Amino acid sequence: MTDGLALYPGSFDPFTLGHLDIAERASMLFGELEITVAENASKKGLLSADERCELIRESTAHLPNVTVHAFSGLLAQYAMDRGALALVRGMRQVSDFEYEFRMAFANRRLAPSIETVFLMTSEDYALISSSIVREIHHWGGDISTFVPEPVRRALASR
Ligand code: PNS
Repeated sequence: MTDGLALYPGSFDPFTLGHLDIAERASMLFGELEITVAENASKKGLLSADERCELIRESTAHLPNVTVHAFSGLLAQYAMDRGALALVRGMRQVSDFEYEFRMAFANRRLAPSIETVFLMTSEDYALISSSIVREIHHWGGDISTFVPEPVRRALASR
């Protein structure tokens, strides 16, 4: 394990079992992991940032070195201000590469001292995405095998 802070940024709308898998893996590699819940202007939201944070806190309560914070602004600047060593991103399949590489290169140019670390998700979760969960939820489908229990409960009650 490396001492120091890594950020795991994302929209997490909602937080899925794939996200949880990456958070669990990253929490074993870094002394402190902050799940950084970002507003993403180009995405239509299901849950508010506060709701997303609360559900992630409940879903990661078993991980003692994980914290959750909402954030709005430029991620690279925020990561430098927080003194982060690294940004963690999950990689599910080849189609993720282009978007992830563009983002990693942009973040490196803005914050050269901060590494982007890609972790491979478990193959069990390789096809799960927040957008698919939103779609299934929208049409009343069962999302219990896609999301942690606190997220399932919160969405069921809406
Ligand atoms: O889960 P997502 O939606 O793929 O996460 C994307 C996110 C939120 C990490 C990205 O959009 C982001 O960093 N937003 C903050 C604004 C920013 O710094 N944009 C430039 C990224 S190169």
